[in-house]
Amino acid sequence: MSSPTPRAVLAGTGIAVPSREIDNAMLARVMDTSDEWILERSGISTRFYVEAGVASSDLGAEAAAAALEDAGMAAEELDYIVCATMTPDHYFPGAGTSIQHKLGIDPLPVLDIRQQCAGFAYGLQVVDALIRGGLARRVLLVGSDVHSCLMPYSEATWKVLLGDADGPLDAADYEHNSRFRHLLVLFGDAAGAMVFRAERQSESGILGSALFGDGGQKEILYVPGVGSAHRPWIDMVMLETSTQVPVMDGRKVFKLAVSHMPRATADLLAAQELSLEDLDLLVMHQANLRINQAAQRALRLPDDKVHNNIQRYGNTTSATLPLCFHEAREMGKAPPGSLVAFTALGAGLHWGSVLVRV
Ligand code: UT7
Repeated sequence: MSSPTPRAVLAGTGIAVPSREIDNAMLARVMDTSDEWILERSGISTRFYVEAGVASSDLGAEAAAAALEDAGMAAEELDYIVCATMTPDHYFPGAGTSIQHKLGIDPLPVLDIRQQCAGFAYGLQVVDALIRGGLARRVLLVGSDVHSCLMPYSEATWKVLLGDADGPLDAADYEHNSRFRHLLVLFGDAAGAMVFRAERQSESGILGSALFGDGGQKEILYVPGVGSAHRPWIDMVMLETSTQVPVMDGRKVFKLAVSHMPRATADLLAAQELSLEDLDLLVMHQANLRINQAAQRALRLPDDKVHNNIQRYGNTTSATLPLCFHEAREMGKAPPGSLVAFTALGAGLHWGSVLVRV
C-alpha cells in the first residue's frame, strides 16, 4: 500500500517587530490627522517603524531565526524558502535570497512572491503544494514588510515625527503629508515567519486553500509610477508628482474586504466538508478593525474565535497573518489540534483563505 501524501505541518512561528513605536499623536505632529480620527476609522493606536536602513530582509531573517528556534530546527535543515514581501530591499532581487544569506546557510531553492496583503496566504498555498508534491520537506515561509520606506516624508518631517526636532513643521511639508494621510496612518513595519515540516501520518497541516486574483480591480490599490509601464521606469517627474506613493480607494477596498474574506472562508470550509462551528480561530488580514468586525459579524463568529492586533501594529501587509497568529498562539488561542482559517485581501486585487490544522 502506498503511504499517504505528506502534509505541511506547522512546526514553529516567529516574529520581528522594530523597537520604534509610533503613536497617533506623533503622526498628528506632521499631518492633518488626530488620534480620534485614526482610532475611530481604523482601530489603530500604534505601529512600529524600523530605523533607516533596516530592510525587509533584516526583519525577515530575524523572524525566520525565531521561528526556526521555536521549531527546534537548525537553519541548515531547511530545503526551501518562500518569501512574501511588497517592499523588497531592492527593485530586484527579492528579499528571499538575502534572508537565506543572513541565516548563513548554503544555497537552496528560494522563491519570492508578491501578493501584497494576501502574500502570506499565497505563501501557505505554495508551501502546501511543495510539501504535498514531495519537492520539499522542511520549508520556511517569511512575510516581511518595511512600509516606512514608502512614506513620502522629508528629512524635516522625520525629525518632527520622531521628536528629534520641536516643530512645528513648515506648511508645505505638512500639506504634502496630509495629501496622503488616509494611507500613512495605517501602515507599520514587521515580519513574521512559519516553519513547516512534511509529515505523512498526521491529522494536522495545511488542509486547503481558496485564493483569487483580479487585475480588473488593480487601480483601487497600486503604485502608479515606478515600473515597466514607464520608460524610463523612474524619473524626476514621478518623484515631483509623488506617483511613487501608493494610490488607494479606501472605501472600495473596504467594501470588497468585508464581502470577499468571509465568503472565501465559508466556501473553503464547505469545500473541506467543515463548518464554521468546527473553526477554532479566524486570523484575518489586519487592514482596518472595522473591516474585521464586519467580517466577523458576517460569519457570526464569537469573539473568542477571532484575534485582532491591528490596534498595536497597524497594517503590516505580508507580516500580518503570521504576526497575528503568533500572538494568538502565545495567548493560548490556537492549541495543538485547533482548526485555524487565515484570510486576507489586498492589492492586485488578491484575496482568499487557507485552512490549517495546527
Ligand atoms: O491592506 C489592504 C489595504 N487597505 C485597506 O484595506 C483599507 C480599507 N479602507 C479603510 O481602511 C478606510 O477606507 C480608511 C481608513 C482608509 C478611510 O476611512 P473612511 O471611513 O473610508 O474615510 P474616507 O476615506 O471616506 O474619508 C472620510 C473623511 C474625508 O474628509 P471629508 O472629505 O469628509 O472632509 C477624508 O479626507 O476623512 C478624511 N480623512 C482623514 N481625516 C483625518 C482621511 N484620512 C484621514 C486621516 N485623518 N488620516
